[in-house]
Amino acid sequence: MAGSGTAHMRPGESDVLLSVEHLVVDFPIGARRVLHAVSDVSFDLRQGETLGLVGESGCGKSTTARAIVQLPPPTSGAINYKGTDLVQLKGENLRRMRPEIQMIFQDPISSLNPRRKVFDIVSEGLSIWGGKARRSASQRRVAEIIREVGLDPEVARQKRSHEYSGGQCQRISVARALVLDPKIVICDEPVSALDVSVQAQILNMLEDMKERYGIALLFISHDLSVVKHVSDRVAVMYLGKLCEIGDGDLIYDQPAHPYTKLLLAAVPDAANKHASDDDAFHGELPSPIDPPSGCRFRSRCPRAEAVCAEQEPQMAHAGAGDHWVACHFPLSGHDPNN
Ligand SMILES: Nc1ncnc2c1ncn2[C@@H]1O[C@H](COP(=O)(O)OP(=O)(O)OP(=O)(O)O)[C@@H](O)[C@H]1O
Ligand SMILES: [Mg+2]
Repeated sequence: MAGSGTAHMRPGESDVLLSVEHLVVDFPIGARRVLHAVSDVSFDLRQGETLGLVGESGCGKSTTARAIVQLPPPTSGAINYKGTDLVQLKGENLRRMRPEIQMIFQDPISSLNPRRKVFDIVSEGLSIWGGKARRSASQRRVAEIIREVGLDPEVARQKRSHEYSGGQCQRISVARALVLDPKIVICDEPVSALDVSVQAQILNMLEDMKERYGIALLFISHDLSVVKHVSDRVAVMYLGKLCEIGDGDLIYDQPAHPYTKLLLAAVPDAANKHASDDDAFHGELPSPIDPPSGCRFRSRCPRAEAVCAEQEPQMAHAGAGDHWVACHFPLSGHDPNN
């Protein structure tokens, strides 16, 4: 399966909560050209897990996230959730599913309505999406959730979002998502806009909420140290395709794709065992309007050979455990030359 590990990765089908299959998102550029933002991406999100999605700016992380919630719907592919393909749902049927998959965005301040009191922002979703029973319980529930994310509901009744700090605004975003009782929360760079001192607090709060409510998280970030901290599994994306996916510890310890290794080597950390003077990206990031043939990474890959331009590598087992890689010449943790 191109760009996927899905077909091999189902130890228990019941484990899979959401299954993204062959997702393609193309954006028309002018009359003739097409930007291939996401090209045949497949992965599963399992019950209660955090799946980290990493990759350089512009590789298609946010487009993947938005396509999952159908904003906008993908060009092609399927998003299977609870036995239904969300891409095929329309009108009321799609509306009914919306509360179950919530998103938290990078910029908490601009994603909150500045004209409304914070309490009303959090309760807004309940009045839009909630059923009758939920609406009648809403005042109590909203206050409870606001308290759970570490804010005072009485203050939230009085204040608007601009009177809160960035970290507090992200707590409000989390409350706004959780009040709808979601099964999945997609966090798109949720701490990138925050001070380092606040990042850990928000990450810990997300972790607590995930445990308390049994939610699965799709956690998007370009910051590999943040992703390592929060993720059970990790998916690495390059120029619209997944190149490696699997258990986070395996990938961080023994990256199998040369791209992942270079990403890890670039993490500024004195204890970074992957850092080396030999590891540097070659060349420019190609355009998603005209991506390289075969393996999309081959134009920057130190291991590329002729076959890499001719054939697209398919996702295959990387050798141990839950670890999959799409590369003609994957690195092996046991190979002394790696
Ligand atoms: N609405 C759009 N119209 C045209 N091109 C778009 C649109 N949205 C995204 N793109 C392009 O699609 C590609 C993927 O963008 P996307 O925002 O998904 O990347 P990303 O991995 O989230 O990057 P970042 O880390 O900077 O947030 C980029 O080349 C981007 O310019
Ligand atoms: Mg993005």
